[in-house]
Amino acid sequence: PPLKIVVCGGGNGAHVFSTLAATRANTDVSVLTIFEDEAERWTKSMKDGVMVSFTAASNQVKSRPSLVTKDPAAVIPRADVIAVVVPSYAHAPVLQAILPFCRPNTFIVGLPAHAGFDFQFTHIFGSKAKECTLAVFETLPWACRIIEYGAHAQVLGTKERVGAALLQGENSNVPFDCIATLQQLIGDKPKLKMVQNSLVVNLMAKTMIHPPIMYGKWRNWDGKPVKQKPLFYQGMDDAQADLLTRVSDEVLLISQTVKDKCNKIVLDISPITHIQDWIKEYYGDQVKDGSSLKLSFQTNQAYNGLVHPLKDAEDGGYVPDFSYRYVREDVPFGLVVLKGIAEIVDVSTPAMDTVISWAQEKLGAEYIVGAELKGRDLSQTRAPQVFGIQTVDQLMLSN
Ligand code: NAI
Repeated sequence: PPLKIVVCGGGNGAHVFSTLAATRANTDVSVLTIFEDEAERWTKSMKDGVMVSFTAASNQVKSRPSLVTKDPAAVIPRADVIAVVVPSYAHAPVLQAILPFCRPNTFIVGLPAHAGFDFQFTHIFGSKAKECTLAVFETLPWACRIIEYGAHAQVLGTKERVGAALLQGENSNVPFDCIATLQQLIGDKPKLKMVQNSLVVNLMAKTMIHPPIMYGKWRNWDGKPVKQKPLFYQGMDDAQADLLTRVSDEVLLISQTVKDKCNKIVLDISPITHIQDWIKEYYGDQVKDGSSLKLSFQTNQAYNGLVHPLKDAEDGGYVPDFSYRYVREDVPFGLVVLKGIAEIVDVSTPAMDTVISWAQEKLGAEYIVGAELKGRDLSQTRAPQVFGIQTVDQLMLSN
């Protein structure tokens, strides 16, 4: 029988992944979107199928999920693979919606996971987590966007490689090869690079890039609309490069300290690289001048034309959009998680603290007080402490 895949989500990534998966041999793909009236809109709009076009290769594929529904009971009980493809602030409602219908030996995928998905999944699924196998992805394999809802999505870029880890529940015995299946569903590119465990995925994710850049650009903003759209990565100045370097230094120090204090296993932290090395390794020849971090960002052709997240101002011009994922996701589901891990291993993080303190104000939240994670809204984040994780050994969920 065909492998039954349920894609949970109704946004950009869900359009692309469900369409690609449905083109593979021997698959039956359905889409579950619990959000607003998306299931209805998608069903009405797709008619003969959903198209995914690849701008770089100027080609396209078309296929059709067998069902798009908002009812978990209609699809989850027979799912072999459940891919959760929504922004991290939507992970909890989606996991809660599927939990009652999820059968043992289901393979669940956080595509992408964002930091702390593993902690949250284990917490929400409770004893059922032991019966499932989880895969967490460091990022989405594609840069993509919907062109016409339920009918057409565009892939602007495909990553060469993407890091992922498996977290196998102790009673879980998924009856197929999880990694080979994922690779088949995604296609030849990106190549999955399996890392030792989900903690390493949390520490290697490069969502730590965006908040320092936002902070550097807007911390002294006078509140007046700007006339032009400022470049995001290529607009990097010395202060932003310095802050990003220091945040990256802190991530490496946290990782090394976790490794040193970990009694359970020899943690392989080699996939966690400094931003300075990562940008060269990741973008290769596209970086025209790699002599400094600032110049690597400024001259990376892959960043051509990418601007800051902005909203139109009422009387013309633009204002920064602090509700965009670079802050809304990458702080509570990114830096704050790293900060939580840092607290567990007693590493101080002044650079991260500076960015978190600024960003939380923009989000109207409080995660950190001084240098301590004890703000009133901490429970809205995925810091490990939120899930009762207090020790290095507890961080190592997969072992
Ligand atoms: P998106 O912005 O298209 O996702 C929005 C969708 O999430 C909605 O259409 C809805 O289906 C669902 N959703 C939102 N709020 C919800 C709620 N309260 N309850 C249930 N469902 C809800 O996201 P996209 O672009 O698909 O990205 C998915 C993830 O991948 C995000 O974490 C994003 O940061 C990351 N990512 C996206 C990239 C891209 O090019 N689109 C590139 C790299 C990472």
